[in-house]
Amino acid sequence: NKRKPLVAGNWKMNGNRSLVTAFNDAFENNAVDNVDVVICPPALYLSAFSTQAFALGGQDVSHLDNGAHTGDLSADMLCELGCKYAIVGHSERRDDHGESNSLVAEKAKKSIASGLTPIICVGESLDIRESGQVESFIGEQLDALVNGLTVEELSKSVLAYEPVWAIGTGKTASPEQAQDVHEFIRGYFAKVDAELAQGLRILYGGSVKADNAKTLFAQQDVDGGLIGGASLKTEDFISICQAAN
Ligand code: G3H
Repeated sequence: NKRKPLVAGNWKMNGNRSLVTAFNDAFENNAVDNVDVVICPPALYLSAFSTQAFALGGQDVSHLDNGAHTGDLSADMLCELGCKYAIVGHSERRDDHGESNSLVAEKAKKSIASGLTPIICVGESLDIRESGQVESFIGEQLDALVNGLTVEELSKSVLAYEPVWAIGTGKTASPEQAQDVHEFIRGYFAKVDAELAQGLRILYGGSVKADNAKTLFAQQDVDGGLIGGASLKTEDFISICQAAN
């Protein structure tokens, strides 16, 4: 396929200034070719990055422009600090902050309006998987995107499939399990617009490590990864980025 791989590191609520420095230095000395690399640190650290070797992203973004919304960050603010991407709908936001499918779609829309590429996360819990409802559950998450965004907006988005049971658990989806769901997601979008589906980058996230990245990324419909724990170590993260090439 002709889709350029993308690997995004989501630091979540981890890291500090010295980790920022370590990443600035490590990427200056280790080029990653033919892969779009993104780091999504806690927003407080965005302005401490000095390297152009990777792009920056927010871990979340408001669906609103501005106003009395304590603690929230707007898409324009993220842009002003150099972000090119924003993660939206991460399962930790959906669970910890009760974010609904339609709110996630609004956040994606607002990101695009400000020039950010949203990395839109979907994925099922273990209960959903064990009860055989993966496709209907993810289908509903995707319905909200298709209802809220135009084809043009969707074509400016990146999707991430993150099975909740694989996040931070060390239990990675098998390459076949990942491929099955990625194929379902691409097939879903193909019914909306064939060209959109063909160009859409779909990342896998959930316990991706340096030693399993290559086989996951080799699957036909897996276009890179969204990396949590392993994005906190320069060597591991660089190996994972290289595995996407
Ligand atoms: O955003 C990243 C994902 O939630 C994956 O996290 O690699 O620590 O499992 P993990």
